[in-house]
Amino acid sequence: MQADGSIAAAVGGYSVNLGQFSAAAIERAGQLSTGLPLASLAGKSVLARQVHALLQRLARHGLLEYRLSSPHDEQDLVVLEPQVAEYWPQAAKLGNGDTVVLSRFAYLRRRGNEMVLESPRAGALFRICDPAIAATLAALSRPQKISKLRRDAASLSLDLLGLLLHSRMLIKLSAKDGDGLRVNEGDGNLVLWDFHDLVFHTRSTEGRHANPVGGAFTYAGVVAPLPAVRPPWPGKPIDLGKFATPEPVSSFAKLLRERHSIRDFDDQHPITLAELAQFLGTTARVLSEWNGAGFDGGPELTYSARPYPSAGSAYELELYLAVSNCEGLARGLYHYDAGGHALVAIDASAQQLQALAKAAEFAIDASGPPQVLITIAARFGRISWKYSSIAYSLILKDVGNLIQTFYLAATDMSLGGCAIGTNNIDLFARMTGLEFHVEGPVGQFALGRGSRLVR
Ligand SMILES: Cc1cc2nc3c(=O)[nH]c(=O)nc-3n(C[C@H](O)[C@H](O)[C@H](O)COP(=O)(O)O)c2cc1C
Repeated sequence: MQADGSIAAAVGGYSVNLGQFSAAAIERAGQLSTGLPLASLAGKSVLARQVHALLQRLARHGLLEYRLSSPHDEQDLVVLEPQVAEYWPQAAKLGNGDTVVLSRFAYLRRRGNEMVLESPRAGALFRICDPAIAATLAALSRPQKISKLRRDAASLSLDLLGLLLHSRMLIKLSAKDGDGLRVNEGDGNLVLWDFHDLVFHTRSTEGRHANPVGGAFTYAGVVAPLPAVRPPWPGKPIDLGKFATPEPVSSFAKLLRERHSIRDFDDQHPITLAELAQFLGTTARVLSEWNGAGFDGGPELTYSARPYPSAGSAYELELYLAVSNCEGLARGLYHYDAGGHALVAIDASAQQLQALAKAAEFAIDASGPPQVLITIAARFGRISWKYSSIAYSLILKDVGNLIQTFYLAATDMSLGGCAIGTNNIDLFARMTGLEFHVEGPVGQFALGRGSRLVR
């Protein structure tokens, strides 16, 4: 309870204000430390509605867990930990005649002293507290009819199965889904994802998990830091210094030396649309297109050439520009059509744009939003159609190529920029309506005219 009568949730030194609530609602919310039945939120009474509103606010901040307990002894069976913003547990409908099987993206693993069931597709993680449930999950590697499953495994209630199905841990097989194996799970874009790649994508970005992200120095007290420069190998060195010249030998060598990250921008003299056009044309425009074969007997494929190198000439990377301050271009979200060398506006809410720009501002510790925030998104299928095991790693390597190209072009044009190591894949999906496994962020770059007080 705050001095002004509002209530706040305090977690690990952070405090979230939740607003004003009646004394009865606050008292009821107190039961959350041990558990409040979802059923108690039903009903139209003022109290039920207030508690519901309070819980939704807590849920929005990821502060609620949802537990299923044994009806006999109240012991926890499974606890759901939300992984995406605004998760709210829902059980999909299942009947005795339905057949279900585990998704190939679901995995059980040890976390601390717990067993957790996770999936990059799921909005929640399932903490499995009862080993009998883990055993039944293992049996779900083969399609199982609900009626038989309930006969054989009393631990798996219909509620839990419905929650697992809604979270896409399980898939329901209809006649057209066949065996539920890789080609029959989800749409064609999912077929192309290797398991490790989709896990890596969702766990190494923000938006679809609840783990710490970024410079948290989590094991600094356990492991000593490595030195900036690797100690030399013990052999006799061949000195290269005698070949060095005092000045860079070419304009390119000079450009490389001049390149550095710029995080604060001159908002009195922002980047202009003409400069942005030149920057995009120099770094990312399609230079030519042609058709060719991928493999003997395969379909004809389309290819393009662009200024930076790309694995397999796939050019799977797309640029989305969140413009906050660019002379001649309205604020908003744009897609760069690299083939047509044009910007196309995308309808995104001001609130979402602000969230995107704020996260970037925080990531580079700047005093304002980047004038232009470039989100590099990948059309995953463009590269995973060909490559197994290495598809996602190739995408990240391509992002590195493009980022260095951005840095050099910005330096050459007397603009400034900075790579950003984090991006929120769930926010981008909500802004564009694109499913996170179809096309999504794999890198970011802040661009603008550097402020004179460059750090
Ligand atoms: C992949 C990558 C991610 C980066 N992420 C961030 C970031 O999130 N925040 C930030 O302030 N700088 C970020 N940087 C910039 C580096 O901190 C910077 O390149 C490094 O300190 C060297 O400084 P310089 O670029 O000025 O030479 C990133 C750079 C790269 C290449």
